[in-house]
Amino acid sequence: MNAKQYIERQLRAINRIGTEELLAYMDEHGFYTAPASRSFHHHYDGGLADHSIEVMLNAQQLKLAHPEWYEYLDDESIIIASLLHDLCKMELYAKQPDGTYKTRKRIAARGHGRLSNDLADKVGLDITGDERHAIRWHMGRFTSDLLRNEDIIDYKEALTHPLTYVIHVADSMSAKGE
Ligand SMILES: [Fe+2]
Ligand SMILES: [Fe+2]
Repeated sequence: MNAKQYIERQLRAINRIGTEELLAYMDEHGFYTAPASRSFHHHYDGGLADHSIEVMLNAQQLKLAHPEWYEYLDDESIIIASLLHDLCKMELYAKQPDGTYKTRKRIAARGHGRLSNDLADKVGLDITGDERHAIRWHMGRFTSDLLRNEDIIDYKEALTHPLTYVIHVADSMSAKGE
């Protein structure tokens, strides 16, 4: 089973409203061939899919290591938030003739977690408020998306749910601090 089949199986098993629309969009817009970054972690074709799976496995391990979190961490939410946290990156990088990647557009100002949520909304995926928070704030406070008062309020609210921490740590572990 390759990464695409694995991700599709995970998301189909949850079967939220909008799942098939999401999977079709991911396939058509290069999710499975995109890198996860331009030159930091997982910067190769298919890196985004590998990174997303790694984040999911890390998050599941973190839950297992913390029984005190069990009742707060829904297994489906871990899968959704992990696999979709970098969803917007599927259209972000263009491969150059020399094999390196170039960023197609600037997203830093808006925050790529927020753009991933926007894409999930665009295809009509049904995601919960906790998942939305974990996706938007998966970079923790290391984001340029923490400027306005309403953003700070949203960030503080996100921090009241363990899912936000788990996805942030799981993502950091996969990116290995790069
Ligand atoms: Fe990210
Ligand atoms: Fe990530």
